[in-house]
Amino acid sequence: MRYSPEIFVDREKELSSLRKWVNEGTNVLVVGLRGYGKTSLFMKFLEEVGCDFPGVYINCLTIYTGRDLLNSLLEELETLSSRGCIDFDRMFFDALLSRTRDSRDCLNALYKLLEKHGIRFIIFDEISTLLRRLGAQKPFRGAGGAKAVAEHFKALLDRYRGISTIFADTSTNFHYELFGKYPGPLFRQYQAMLELEPLSFGDSIELIREILRKRNVGLSDNIVLYIADISGGVPAYIEMLLAIAEEGMDIREYEAEVERSLILGLLNRYFEALLDKFSWTEQEVLYAIAKGMTRFSELQRSIAGSAQALNSLVRKGVVINVKKGPRESYYLIKDKLFTAWLAIREKPGMRKISFKKARMLTIGFESLVREIFFTLKESVRIRDELGREITIEPPKKVYRYEGALGEIDMVAEYRDYVVVGEIYFGLKCGREKINQLLRNIGIAERLGYKVRQAILISYFDYPEETIGYARKISEETPILLLTEKQLRELSKYSLIRLP
Ligand SMILES: Nc1ncnc2c1ncn2[C@@H]1O[C@H](COP(=O)(O)OP(=O)(O)OP(=O)(O)O)[C@@H](O)[C@H]1O
Ligand SMILES: [Mg+2]
Repeated sequence: MRYSPEIFVDREKELSSLRKWVNEGTNVLVVGLRGYGKTSLFMKFLEEVGCDFPGVYINCLTIYTGRDLLNSLLEELETLSSRGCIDFDRMFFDALLSRTRDSRDCLNALYKLLEKHGIRFIIFDEISTLLRRLGAQKPFRGAGGAKAVAEHFKALLDRYRGISTIFADTSTNFHYELFGKYPGPLFRQYQAMLELEPLSFGDSIELIREILRKRNVGLSDNIVLYIADISGGVPAYIEMLLAIAEEGMDIREYEAEVERSLILGLLNRYFEALLDKFSWTEQEVLYAIAKGMTRFSELQRSIAGSAQALNSLVRKGVVINVKKGPRESYYLIKDKLFTAWLAIREKPGMRKISFKKARMLTIGFESLVREIFFTLKESVRIRDELGREITIEPPKKVYRYEGALGEIDMVAEYRDYVVVGEIYFGLKCGREKINQLLRNIGIAERLGYKVRQAILISYFDYPEETIGYARKISEETPILLLTEKQLRELSKYSLIRLP
């Protein structure tokens, strides 16, 4: 049950970590939200290691019984044997299989077979499903269920130390569910954890281009950049966003198509299924956050049971908690396209937000930058593109201003001053962005703020001309120029990672 990915970008670091861990016999937990590319990473890894480290892959979604597990292993062993990686002992297999009576026997037989055939690692993709299913069967049913299966795994991991067991799931939440307390006993069995993040913007663009090349479809640079931006680097979103793009579309038409898909198309169906996985209270909390109610006190006041739902959403890695003071706490949804979908959906009693607004407030590079600033945990010293050292402190509040006076991409509020920002995701950040930043300062001052710093933020490097203009302007009004480089530095000290 493996395939070799036709298109695969990056994940160099993850692949080399896996190789190192497998070589050391380390047990690993791999987590990543839906569609981030866990399964693809394993497929690539299996292909790459070849016979260097014979390993097996189990897709737990297809396993219902202990027997299924052994049959799945059989397929894997046959594959490895046909490739000359191992000498498969069919008689040994059959003898073991015939002696299994329940799922615990099957798990024991599985590891015995791995050892017998010199298998170096085993990947359990979607492990929580396996724990739950086997837990509902003899002899685990009635003896603790999924928790008893996990305990048994613990014993097996202890006994077969030379084999790396790689458990993968969408979040670490199953530990909490199994053991009530995180980290549970099984957790101590892993010596390593890999959290799969979205692809960087650069790799997203590469992936988009490769898919287009394979399909022999051409799209304008504008649309390619737009897709990289709103996908947030999630490979599954990139694929869906490409599925609704057609050759010859201009950016306006494509944007309209994305909106349509979010409201009643492919993306809508995907997110409906995703939302359905959460409890009702969790769903309500997700809606409220997406529609702008991000403060804990407010959420608690308006949704019964929200505190508990928030805790579980945080454990599932879906929501991030930002503490701004002893009694001030905010929540953010990690997945931005999902947030936008929730925001524009009609929900009785909650405000409806237009796609245009949701796009501006929640998705893409611009909102990512605001969140990196907002979730800074400490002050960070960085050197901007003009070589000046500055300290960025954690702000109290960060938002986009839109009002009678105009728009400001980022206002970061401090006790008695603000920092204003202009954020740009295009390839060539021209001097007009600096002029816009100067206008932003003017707007903020007319709003009564004391502006301490003005920052231009572009994902890509600045053209020489813009740098020169910024130098000249800075003689009078100092402005800072940041790019991906400084953001990456900042994001090391923030709760939001720049992918
Ligand atoms: N590194 C990558 N390069 C190219 N395509 C990728 C990459 N990672 C993932 N994809 C594509 O994105 C889609 C989702 O990836 P995948 O199924 O591996 O994610 P997952 O984390 O296993 O998701 P799920 O939680 O739904 O199982 C797949 O169709 C895959 O082809
Ligand atoms: Mg998967």
